[in-house]
Amino acid sequence: MSLLIKNAVIVNADQIYQRPQDILVEEGMIAKIAPSLSVGTTVIDVKGKLVMPGLIDMHVHLREPGREDKETIETGSRAAAKGGFTTVLCMPNTTPVIDNAMIVEAILKEARRIGLTNVIPVGAITKGQNGEQLTDMFELRQAGCLALSDDGKTVANSRLMRLAMEYAKMVGLLLIEHCQEPVLWGRGVMNEGDNSTLLGLKGDPGISETVIVARDIELANYLNSRIHMAHMSLKRSVELIRFAKSQGIQVTAEACPHHFTLTDEAVKTFDTNAKVNPPLRTQTDVEAIKQALKDGTIDCIVTDHAPHTQEEKELDFDHAPYGMIGLETAVGLTITELVIPGILSWAQMVEKMSTAPARIVGLANKGVIREGADADMTIIDPEKVWKVRKEDFFSKSKNSPFIGRTLKGAVVTTIYNGRVVYAISPGVV
Ligand code: DOR
Ligand code: ZN
Repeated sequence: MSLLIKNAVIVNADQIYQRPQDILVEEGMIAKIAPSLSVGTTVIDVKGKLVMPGLIDMHVHLREPGREDKETIETGSRAAAKGGFTTVLCMPNTTPVIDNAMIVEAILKEARRIGLTNVIPVGAITKGQNGEQLTDMFELRQAGCLALSDDGKTVANSRLMRLAMEYAKMVGLLLIEHCQEPVLWGRGVMNEGDNSTLLGLKGDPGISETVIVARDIELANYLNSRIHMAHMSLKRSVELIRFAKSQGIQVTAEACPHHFTLTDEAVKTFDTNAKVNPPLRTQTDVEAIKQALKDGTIDCIVTDHAPHTQEEKELDFDHAPYGMIGLETAVGLTITELVIPGILSWAQMVEKMSTAPARIVGLANKGVIREGADADMTIIDPEKVWKVRKEDFFSKSKNSPFIGRTLKGAVVTTIYNGRVVYAISPGVV
């Protein structure tokens, strides 16, 4: 079966086709791109819409196995497809932890059965994420992992992190660091500052993040290895990464929509949906993250989609779990907060949400619309204004601080592996 997309305004990171094109999809691949094509069994006319390479979120939590009451691979895949994501990397802090081939294979099998998005499990760096013993990286790589992380926790032991970097380099795996030095963090529940004092809540000082950023930059430099910094939240982290990049150190970094849209002011209502790790910071940090996305210091945008049940989020602020869902609001927030104000161009949005993640993770046929590439595409209506509503989430959990917000720019159709996996209105003629 073939699919023909007519009148596509194609947006790639490095070039925008000057005029609308038709895209022919056959057997999961982009077979042909030309100004006018007329073959294809299914035809979609996307006049007035933007067609981007399928978005890639290299940081989500799908909760399966172990916490299927929060999210499953199935509900998470639906949320991803609705959010425009055709590939997601799912973090290993499941129960049990993704630290062996059997769990990786089980996740891959279930994700393929569902078939709505490409799910790539991220293996743990240490067994059980206990921070003590390294996992069998070769086994995880063979099973299908492209990256390892102890996300949710930092690899606190610097010697162990050094070894992890050496082995990961040998095996060809990306390491993703969750940067929150545990002793400095001290289980703070929000950013340390005037607001934490005012609210009487325990603060996480920003240095918990920056000491790990600095440490890992030094390790990467010493070992000539790569390191990817998860969810950067601070101006100071950005400065360290900018400096490291200027020195040619192989560091890449990501930022989440909540860290470029919200500050610790959002905690003032004690809304536990604003409790997240790393915490929401200050306006100065928000501005620095935006600038870093613009100038390339931060390579990509990820959601850190972290579903939690309503019962748990109804606990008091100290006891509620950290995290918020993000798959279904990322595109709207990025367009509203970064593209419309002119901080990122459409091409840069594609770079941050598809091309850069593909390059960092090592997905050769993704992140670009061209003949021969995988037929993963995200179709955006740049004019659509919509309201974030709790009842519209496909995710099993509803813990979003953005409920009630009006956003501009929406995913109207998602094509994964040559098939329409999400469409706002059928749109198929
Ligand atoms: O807020 C967070 N929630 N940050 C993390 O790093 C982990 C995540 C989770 O798993 O809930
Ligand atoms: Zn995370």
